Amino acid sequence: MVMEAQARKKGFTEILKSLFMPYFSEKEELVKILNENYSKEIAIAKMLEEHSEMIPFDFLRERLKKVAEEERKHAERLRQKIIELGGSVNPSPRIFDVKTETIHNQKGFRKLVADLEFDKEIYENYIAQINKVENDEIKKLLREIVEDEEKHKDILMDIVMRLC
Ligand SMILES: [Fe+2]
Repeated sequence: MVMEAQARKKGFTEILKSLFMPYFSEKEELVKILNENYSKEIAIAKMLEEHSEMIPFDFLRERLKKVAEEERKHAERLRQKIIELGGSVNPSPRIFDVKTETIHNQKGFRKLVADLEFDKEIYENYIAQINKVENDEIKKLLREIVEDEEKHKDILMDIVMRLC
């Protein structure tokens, strides 16, 4: 009788696991993706802030700083979503190593070109994620961020063209 009850209980646990494990692993996967995005947004914001300082024209410098500010807002939205999902936020966002030495131009604004490349990479990551992620709420968040990223790409391209 006890054995039977135990077996039933075990069977029940297995059923529960099979029902909820996909949910748990999906959530973990989402937290991982969001954390990766969070790190990249923090990294690009820092890069843009730093690199804006070398721009000799106020209006262009301000334009780049505004993009950096928006990247920080993206990071904040991602951070909030990670917390909402019950995940933990990457405490020290990884600094991405962007290879500036592979980029050539004669006027010394290589770093801005690197920013543009990194920004493009982030944009492409978002597009890939939007196609992959099934959670509607996260999809919506990623879509909203991508709309900004499209504008950022144009702004960065414009700044690079003017300076380089
Ligand atoms: Fe962003």
